[in-house]
This record gives sequence, structure tokens and C-alpha cells, in this order.
Amino acid sequence: MNLVTDNSQGHLSIGGCDALDLANDFGTPLYVYDISLIRQQLRQFHKAFKETGIKYAISYASKAFAIRAIDQVIDQEDGHLDVVSAGELMTAVQANFPMANVSFHGNNKSLAELQLALDNHVGTIIVDNFYELELLNKLLPEQKQPVNIMLRIAPGISAHTHRYIQTGQVDSKFGFDVQSGQAEQALKQVLQNPKLNLRGYHAHIGSQIMAIAGFTALVQKMVQLAADWQEKYHYQPQVLNFGGGFGIKYTNQDQPLAPQEFVRNMIQTLKKEIAQTNLTLPEVWIEPGRSIVGEAGYSLYTIGARKNIPGIRTYVSVDGGMGDNIRPALYQAEYQAVLAADPQASPVETVTIAGRYCESGDILVKDQKLPLSAPGDILAILATGAYGYSMASNYNRVGRPAVVFAENGHAKLVVKRETLADLTRLDLNYL
Ligand code: LLP
Repeated sequence: MNLVTDNSQGHLSIGGCDALDLANDFGTPLYVYDISLIRQQLRQFHKAFKETGIKYAISYASKAFAIRAIDQVIDQEDGHLDVVSAGELMTAVQANFPMANVSFHGNNKSLAELQLALDNHVGTIIVDNFYELELLNKLLPEQKQPVNIMLRIAPGISAHTHRYIQTGQVDSKFGFDVQSGQAEQALKQVLQNPKLNLRGYHAHIGSQIMAIAGFTALVQKMVQLAADWQEKYHYQPQVLNFGGGFGIKYTNQDQPLAPQEFVRNMIQTLKKEIAQTNLTLPEVWIEPGRSIVGEAGYSLYTIGARKNIPGIRTYVSVDGGMGDNIRPALYQAEYQAVLAADPQASPVETVTIAGRYCESGDILVKDQKLPLSAPGDILAILATGAYGYSMASNYNRVGRPAVVFAENGHAKLVVKRETLADLTRLDLNYL
């Protein structure tokens, strides 16, 4: 996990920067990313793929954290990018991200979004449904070159934390259903269309997956489908995209596999399965989001009010909460908190870290043992780098925090804090 490292003063250190200095210089609440950890995660994925000798792409699922600066780091580390909206796409454009390495996802892309993707020469459109094929068909006459697409299929496998469930019936809004023949129907349509260049198939089975079993089942299923369809339609996929979902460590209870283990296992299964077919080994693409940025992110807060209910609970409130991290309220997600002044200090009391938003459910960490804290102390919540900022809201008209990248002892502001002026900027008078 993002090991809690302290510096010579015993303070929490993030990317070589003192967390207390960061809080002081940039204010709280604050998102801080240790960029060397992000690079390290990507490099581990690269290394694992390189060892297998297979052609591959690591397409960062930018929904986990989509800002210009992270897109730039991903490109620098030879990652590709997956975007799911015009907003994420324009972020990539502003980052100068090579568009050939961008994939465009989504189960209800609008005509305008597809047009934007084509205008910007997005590398691959991952087509999700028949309506999208219809929309694309409207735009294809204007295209000089065939448009690269993949088909997203719903393979009938859904993964959950620690185990996988193989569902007979797929109940998902995403992708072409295999069971009912819709995926095959889509394939036939696409193969008949000379303006579409089908690169292969995509599937994604879930998120925060800790075990390999679901991925093994996915690889087997995808190869079996590709082989069946190759016999029937003589189409050999150039790429199989197995999506993302690799789990991370939020608390000490989480024991995810390392990136290289996921990759090694998947490719081993792939090679074994492919050897039993007439297919040649395809490229493998994956779409990790959480596992690239999650553990590298920290949320820094200032502690304020304390409420002790004798015999029941002690609430310690911070200056952020569900507006900057909706995951505890939405998914009962668990996090671990430390005091930035002394992350290794022995815990002496059990407290519940409450947010500042007007909702009882705005609890960031329930019943955690912490050292004694006082108003003004800086609290850090660990592993908030994925789906924190990207799911942040302006609930209670509170501005979203700033984002700082820390690396080798240097801290750089990469997203400004929202001001009161920002919060009311779009309002118009009625009377
Ligand atoms: N590829 C596709 C097609 C996806 O739908 C997703 C996530 C990913 C890749 C990346 O998955 P990851 O590696 O990050 O697990 N807001 C939720 C997570 C939603 C995930 C949606 N799709 C959360 O905070 O846990």
C-alpha cells in the first residue's frame, strides 16, 4: 500500500514533501498524489507484459481520476488512455495526449460525442450497442478512412471482491449480450461495413477485484468466442481487451494481487487457450484505473469539532467529507486515517471521522483507533486517489479541493481549489 512514510521530523511524507507543509502551503481539504508511485504502478504493469513477450497496451481508465496533469504522466509512462465522455476526451486533448492511443467508451455516447471523437481522430471507439452503431453509420460517410472500433461484449461473467460469480443470464447495461446472440449479430453488421475496421473484442467484469479467478474465466470465454466466430466468419481479432478492475489496498484488511500477478496469470491462460484454437496470439489491452492512481492519492483535512457521546461514540469532524470522497457513503468503502504530524504514533482512542456536510451519512472513517488529536491537526486519509476527485461534487455549495502532485520533494499545484466565485459562476437571475 502507500506505505506511511515519515520524514526526519516524523511527519507524514508524500512524494518527499512534508504533509504539514503541503496543508499549510495549499490549504485543506487537499488531494495530494505521490507521482513516483503512479509511475511505479505503470512500470510494474509494463514489466509484467514485457516478460510475456506479448504485444500489449495499458490503457489507463481516466474515469478514476481525469485531469490534464495525470493524462500527461500516463503518456510519459507509455500508457494509453480510456475516456468515457466529451469532458474526459477534451482533457486528453488539452494534455496533448496522442489521440491514436485513446479509446472511447460509454453505453450512451451521443452523436455529438462520437463526432468529437472522430474529429479528434480518437484511436479506437469501443462500441457498446446497436444504437451506437446507428449513430456511427450517420457519421461514416464523412470519414475518409475506416474508423477503428472494438465491440464491447457482456460475457456473462461478473466479478466481485474475493470471488467470482458466473452468471447464466447477463444483467448489465453495458455491452452486447453474448447469450442471446446480440454480440454475434453486431459482429456480422460490423464485418459487412467497409467503413468500420474492427480491431477486436472488449469486456470488463467489475472493479476492486482481488482474485484472479474472474479474469481466468473471462480470458477463457473471450478466446472461446473469438475462436467460434473465427470459424463462422473468418475474422481474427487483432486485440482482446480484458478491461480493468484490479483491486488495491485501502486498509490492512485488503490483500490484492500485485499487477504483475494479474498480468502473468491472464497471459498464461490466454496462451494456453489460444494454443487449442486456430487463432494467432492477439494483442492484449487492459484498462486499469484504480490500480494506477488509487494508492498514490492522499486526502489531507484539518480537524475541527469533536463530539463525544459518552458510552456511544466520539465524532471528530474534518473540513471535507462526502463532497470530496463519496465512496464511504455510496459503497460503504473503508479507508484508513493517520495524523500527519505523527503517522506512526500509537493509537489511544477510537473515533469516527465525520465530514462537514449536512448529512448523517457523511462519515469518512467509522470507528478507527487514532492517537489523540486536537482542532487544527492535519488528518490524512490514505489511498483516496481513485474515484475521489473524479466523483467530487459541490453538495452544500462547498468548493472542490485543490490537487497537488508531489514528486522527489517538489510539490506542484495541478488543479486549483474552487472559489466562492467559481461556485456561483453559472447562476443567473430569475427575477
Ligand atoms: N474499463 C471499463 C470499461 C470500466 O467500466 C472501468 C470502471 C474500468 C475499465 C476501470 O476499472 P478500475 O480498474 O478502476 O477498477 N466509482 C466506483 C468504480 C466504478 C468503476 C466503473 N468502471 C468506485 O469508486 O469504486
